[in-house]
Parts: sequence; C-alpha cells; structure tokens
Amino acid sequence: MEPESAMVRAADLLYRILYGVVLSRVPEPLAVPLGQWGLRLLPLDLLPIFRNPDPRLATTLGGVKLPNPLILSSMYYDTTILRRAMGLGFGAVTAKSITPRPRPGHPQPNLVRIETAEGAGLVNCNGFHNPGLEAYRAALERLPHRVPLIVAAAGESAEDYVAVVEGLAPFGDLVEINISSPNTKLVYGWSERPQELAGMFRAVRKATDKPIIVKVSPDFRHANEETTIPTALEAGITIVNCGNTRRVDEPRLSQKSGGLSGPALFAETLENVRRLRARFGAGVEIIATGGIDAPDKALQALDAGATACGYFTGFITRGPLLARRILDAIVKAHR
Ligand SMILES: Cc1cc2nc3c(=O)[nH]c(=O)nc-3n(C[C@H](O)[C@H](O)[C@H](O)COP(=O)(O)O)c2cc1C
Repeated sequence: MEPESAMVRAADLLYRILYGVVLSRVPEPLAVPLGQWGLRLLPLDLLPIFRNPDPRLATTLGGVKLPNPLILSSMYYDTTILRRAMGLGFGAVTAKSITPRPRPGHPQPNLVRIETAEGAGLVNCNGFHNPGLEAYRAALERLPHRVPLIVAAAGESAEDYVAVVEGLAPFGDLVEINISSPNTKLVYGWSERPQELAGMFRAVRKATDKPIIVKVSPDFRHANEETTIPTALEAGITIVNCGNTRRVDEPRLSQKSGGLSGPALFAETLENVRRLRARFGAGVEIIATGGIDAPDKALQALDAGATACGYFTGFITRGPLLARRILDAIVKAHR
C-alpha cells in the first residue's frame, strides 16, 4: 500500500472511532453544535491529506470548472464552515437554502439519527433555519472561493425565489433552486403546482446569468419526469439535482415528520440517475445526491450517468476523509 493511502486509511479509522464512540452517542442537540464547533475551530482545510489534486478529476457543471465532481450538499450556512469545507476535497460546496427573511426554523428536536437496514442516516425537520437574504449577502461577501460555491434559494412564491436568486447570485458560481425540502409545506408542494412552477422557473432564469440547478424530491418521481424537469428545460434550466431528503413520519421530531437522508436513499438515487439520463439524454446535467456514503456508491452514480455527486450525511457519518477516499477511487477506476 502507498504510504499516503495508508495515512488516509489510518485517519479515516480515527474518525470512525471518534464518531462511533463519541459523536454517535452524544444526544443530537449537543452532537450538532459539537460537530460544527469542531469544524469551525480545527483548520483541517490546511491539511493536504483531505484533497486529491489529480487534474484528471476536473470536470464542468453548467460551464463552471470544478476540480472534481464531488459536491458538499446544502446544509451549512456558517461561512467559516463553508470555507473549511472548500479545503476538504470537494469540487464545489453548496450553502444552505436561504429565504428572503430570516427564519428561526422548527423547534428542537429537529434532527435525529436513525439506523436503517442500509446503515446510519438522519431525519431532520430543520425548517430552513437561516439568517435571511440581507444578512447572508453580507456574510458571503467575505467568503473566498477556493472551489466554486453554489448558493441556494428557497421560498413560497416566485417573488421569493427571484429576490433570493437576484440577491445571492453575485456571490455564487452556480445557483440552486430548492423546490423539494419536505419540512416546509409550500416549498415541498411546488411539484404539485406545475403552472406556477413554470412561471417561477422563467422568472429565476431571467434573474441571473449564472447556471441554475433545480433540486428535486425523490418523493415526486412521476412529477419530476413528466412536468418539473421538462418545464425547467424549457425555461433554460439544465442542471438537475436528484435529490433532496425523503419525507418520513418520525415521532421523535417536533414536527412528527421530517426528511430522511443517508444510505436508505441510495438505491432510488441511482435509479433516478439512470432514468433521467435515459429520458433526457445529454441535454441535462445530473447531480446524484441521496445516500452516497462510500466510494463505490459514487462510482456507481457516475457510471449511471451522473455529472457530479453530492452528499451531506456521509460527511457526518463517514467523516471528512470520505471525499478523498472517493476521489482516490475515481482516479483508480479510470486509470
Ligand atoms: C440537517 C439537514 C439540513 C438540510 N438542509 C438543506 C437545505 O437547506 N437545502 C437543501 O436543498 N437541502 C438540505 N438538506 C438535504 C441535503 O442537502 C441532501 O439533499 C440530503 O440530505 C440527501 O443527501 P445525503 O443522503 O447525502 O444526506 C439538508 C439535510 C440535512 C440532513
């Protein structure tokens, strides 16, 4: 084994022990701030071990150059964490979905761990806890882009999305339109309002020249294929992120339901990538998100036709070395 890959394995094992012994046992309301505190405080982004700079990994998304096809999925809005994440191997990093006005999010408990047949996952009813457009514009102004930044918008009306896209696009390299988080009724319901959705897509397309990604829900497979994606393509939105969390009942959460993330989603993510690639051909770029928490899953998604792979839960359950392990596997597979 090469010395560097032995180091990656050793550091990976260390995180697994830390996660298994500490983070996965601490109650969630404490584990989340503890993890985020660690991410903010430890300058992990200074360590080359997290990155694979092989130029063969470079790709493009919406015409934007990415050093590799791995994307940290939307969850963090803290710009210190986003800055650190940009040095942790990802080819692009997505900020949290922002709404026009600040939102406190849903009360605790709003995130629980779950053990599924496929492995460790999460269920959240975060409810878009975010500082709102104006405060976030000021924060993003000070964030350097070591890799491309994807800014993300959520809202309840076309006007909300236009306001956030207009306000955030100057600070991002790509813009993601979230119409799929299950924790806010009007956001989740966009797929059931195709007329309004078409108007919203046209309006946001006019609001920026930056590439736009539409993030869809695994709960609306039929609507995604029959209306949402064709409507997006007609409006000139050609990148699809499939997808968001899956809505599930969860009595431990304050809202009694939430979005399931993690490996239980993977089989459907893979199937969705295959179907979308077969149905829409080369006219669409696909980000595979949902349950990617191991190198072989990322390889399967890319082989099925994904342009890039996104993940969030794997970053928590498998740790910050997952990106490096996936990148090494991609290089090895295509050598
Ligand atoms: C706590 C939490 C917060 C999230 N917040 C957002 C969000 O603001 N916007 C969004 O589009 N997706 C959000 N997501 C969904 C993730 O970006 C991702 O699409 C989903 O978790 C599936 O991928 P995974 O299985 O790799 O986690 C969130 C997920 C979690 C667990």
